[in-house]
Amino acid sequence: MYYFVEPMTEADIPQVQAVEQTSFHTNWSATTYRRELRNTASCRYVVARASPTPPPPRAERPRRNGLFAHLFGSLVNPHYFGGAAPLVGYGGLWVTLEEGHITVIAVDPPYRGRGIGELLLNSLIDASFEMGSTALTLEVRDSNTAAQQLYLKYGFLPAGKRKRYYTDNGEDAVIMWTEPMNTPEYQARLRGLRQQLYTRLRDQVPQP
Ligand SMILES: CC(C)(COP(=O)(O)OP(=O)(O)OC[C@H]1O[C@@H](n2cnc3c(N)ncnc32)[C@H](O)[C@@H]1OP(=O)(O)O)[C@@H](O)C(=O)NCCC(=O)NCCS
Repeated sequence: MYYFVEPMTEADIPQVQAVEQTSFHTNWSATTYRRELRNTASCRYVVARASPTPPPPRAERPRRNGLFAHLFGSLVNPHYFGGAAPLVGYGGLWVTLEEGHITVIAVDPPYRGRGIGELLLNSLIDASFEMGSTALTLEVRDSNTAAQQLYLKYGFLPAGKRKRYYTDNGEDAVIMWTEPMNTPEYQARLRGLRQQLYTRLRDQVPQP
């Protein structure tokens, strides 16, 4: 299977909400998604799609300034597929000044464990660089070890808790922050992780 990421559009909202329902206890309305998507000054939302055939290259590629974007090659560069390939995950980001805040990452359960969560996170890291942020933060449920492992892998570290942050069950949120991402050390770490992810995704491409 080919997995790739592209910007979320309003037409994606029903599929995004379907993935959201499999992944979270509370859900956003379509109106909330539309408001987020229209706030292009400080929000970025992306979707991951799965296709058994290579997605056709876009005639006009978007500007892509993210660090190490070239490592991904045609496997994961954004393609506009017209919504034809199934949506298997999504992610979002807010940026205020030099801080990026990851609002959500979710992958449809049958597609978990294939590198798609990592692909989405990398896309949000690139988007945060493009929007001028130099560090990322997020909140994650205390019990959500899978997501915490993903974030730890990319250099997020626990930096405190928000007590009873989640209203459905009163669970605490762990606040995580990256170190500054514009350092040579972090960039080298990211480059290594992206090489591994590229190999993992390439190995899932159907062989002729
Ligand atoms: C968290 C989530 C997005 C991960 O997506 P995914 O596509 O399954 O993750 P990937 O296959 O890209 O895995 C990347 C890394 O995440 C971590 N990870 C993913 N699943 C894990 C699991 N079940 N247990 C422990 N670590 C896990 C690992 O560090 C993994 O790297 P590795 O394969 O080198 O060990 C997915 O489990 C999900 O959608 N969960 C529900 C929604 C959610 O909790 N979102 C986070 C909100 S803060």
